[in-house]
Amino acid sequence: MEDVTRRADALIERLAAAGWLTRDAVKAALRDVPRHLFAPPVAWTGDGEPVGESADPERWLDLVYGNEAIITQLDDGATDLAAGAGRFTSSLSAASTVVSLLELLDVETGHRILDVGTGTGWTAGLLARLVGSENVTSVEIDPVISKSAAANLERAGYRPRLIVGDGALGWAPASVYDRVHATCAVARVPYAWIEQTRPGGVIVTPYDPGFGSGHELRLVVMPDGTAVGRFTGHASYMMMRAQRHPSWDTADLRAARSTTAVDPRTIGYAPAGADLAMGAALPGVWARGVHDGGRYTLRLRAQDAWAVARYEPGRDTYEVEQAGERPLWDLAVSAYFDWVARRSPGRDRFGLTVTPAGDEVWLDMPGSTP
Ligand SMILES: C[S@@+](CC[C@H](N)C(=O)[O-])C[C@H]1O[C@@H](n2cnc3c(N)ncnc32)[C@H](O)[C@@H]1O
Repeated sequence: MEDVTRRADALIERLAAAGWLTRDAVKAALRDVPRHLFAPPVAWTGDGEPVGESADPERWLDLVYGNEAIITQLDDGATDLAAGAGRFTSSLSAASTVVSLLELLDVETGHRILDVGTGTGWTAGLLARLVGSENVTSVEIDPVISKSAAANLERAGYRPRLIVGDGALGWAPASVYDRVHATCAVARVPYAWIEQTRPGGVIVTPYDPGFGSGHELRLVVMPDGTAVGRFTGHASYMMMRAQRHPSWDTADLRAARSTTAVDPRTIGYAPAGADLAMGAALPGVWARGVHDGGRYTLRLRAQDAWAVARYEPGRDTYEVEQAGERPLWDLAVSAYFDWVARRSPGRDRFGLTVTPAGDEVWLDMPGSTP
């Protein structure tokens, strides 16, 4: 127990020193809702070896109170991590990103909160500590994950309302909410969240339209039924199930070959502001870079098209293949240089407006195209 308290305090100190954690209420919640009660008996960060609690309790605690996400599910089902690699589909989120989202949420006593993506239940527990279990509704799409969250929360002494369902629909029976807190990333903000939140209420969610690795988004719900807000930082989260990016499958489309003088890493390594501009110009497109020794391949994928651009050291031009309805590489390059021509605005100058008709990314002011 002493070990746990010492590690929890050290984690709080590290998060505060790094500037992630400033609010006393959130610090108290981190102390009172201990992270290890939500960690699986075998902890794995997705890298290195899994560590068993009973086999090596000290290393297990070190991992749990470190600052990395602990993977709890692969491929929507497997919790046996020894089974090998797969898509990460649930986790105990990294502490720094959890506190960053919680601070943005700006919770006050008595607030009613919708938490989307219960996962291990840790964030639902932290929210319950902040506003009382009776004010927190947490929705998880996977019934097995939700059941294990209920057990974790019970051990920690909290009983928020746990719902098994699609968090994109919110949970209308417990609305209207003051705050919506999502811990799965969206490429489109579900309008149900806005409908179920009072004017002036706040929605905090990871936003990942497809380029780069995701952004923290803080929206305020307006009296006219829209929501407006800004991108406040980096947030890398698993996608909400129905919004996952398409898988990489090129078999069905014939590709046209060309060459480009633009180094594919210019697009693949672009700063966050460029990622937002390219994501806005190419909705539904997912970019992913793959390293192979000194080589780098940028893959672009949409439902109707794909492209690859290959960087090889020592070359003056690079190979491109493009297939389908849209030349995705050409469009990404054009969006990138439009962003450069606007003097390369950073992430903090971008914002988003959500209406019943969809999302619109803007630069500096709502309505202005990025
Ligand atoms: C990163 S984990 C959440 C971490 C969690 N908040 C914690 O503290 O442990 C993301 C969770 O979102 C869930 N999820 C994905 N799509 C969802 C959806 N449409 N509705 C509700 N939950 C969803 C996943 O099953 C996964 O458990």
